[in-house]
Amino acid sequence: MKVVDDIASLRKLTTEWKFSGSTVGFVPTMGNLHNGHLKLVKRAKANNSRVVVSIFVNPMQFGANEDLDAYPRTIKEDKAKLIEAGVDAVFLPSVSDMYPGGVEHQTVVEVPDISDILCGASRPGHFRGVATVVSKLFNMVHPHDAFFGEKDFQQLQVIRTMVRDLSMGVTIHGIPTERDVSGLALSSRNGYLTDEQRHTAATIYSEMTSLKARIEAGERNYVALAADLADILTDSGFNNDYVHIVNAESLKPAKQTDKHLVILVAAFLGNTRLIDNLQIQL
Ligand code: PAJ
Repeated sequence: MKVVDDIASLRKLTTEWKFSGSTVGFVPTMGNLHNGHLKLVKRAKANNSRVVVSIFVNPMQFGANEDLDAYPRTIKEDKAKLIEAGVDAVFLPSVSDMYPGGVEHQTVVEVPDISDILCGASRPGHFRGVATVVSKLFNMVHPHDAFFGEKDFQQLQVIRTMVRDLSMGVTIHGIPTERDVSGLALSSRNGYLTDEQRHTAATIYSEMTSLKARIEAGERNYVALAADLADILTDSGFNNDYVHIVNAESLKPAKQTDKHLVILVAAFLGNTRLIDNLQIQL
């Protein structure tokens, strides 16, 4: 596996690959890799002859009071996992290479409407940071395909919208969420949880699953159904940020006639903010 930390070398490498007829699959990450990330890598390997993974903890997508400094950095372990997964190159850009004008003085990519609701409402500027860094990474890697987790459902929709609106020639693949045996969605932030909180955290998935069954059985009062889930989570010890049932494409409140829905949950356990979601096809 090639370890590349400057933009020029990365461009040279992917240009050579493309020139010799390879297709390039790309998996952007912030590191501290777990089986969710590795599932994306696996899908990229199955789809493309060359695979690039980036690891960059992107300061632009963290709010002033968020966990940028505490975010787990485990480069050595990450590299070992990527070698084992058969990745061709890992890209490790520095903050100064990524933001030569400084993080605050930067041309930005804004994806309107969808960036301002849900997680975007609680984390102002978060999706501007995500869209900007992903478009920069696309300009560096020039992949044919890029792989994102459905775990970050709104992020995936923001990226799809950006790629469509800016005519970026990258095919976006959404990959189902990887969970542990308890149902808890794998996340780098799970490492912040105590054993007891980890046990409680699994409630999100089990209760979303019960709610899904009620909807599949015909219940349609989505506001009341979401309120039921919110109450259960509060009783279990969560401090809810939001619990909504929305249209899976627009992320606007679900209507009776909608066929593809998603339950979206964002909730704090102590200081740790967890997100999860479950899609429903009617
Ligand atoms: P990060 O949180 O490291 O996630 C990298 C990718 O892994 C994202 O596409 C995310 O949705 C996916 N992922 C995380 N947990 C997953 C799980 N349990 N199952 C399946 N996929 C999972 O998301 C980011 O980084 C950043 O915002 C980034 C896109 C890299 C831009 O900085």
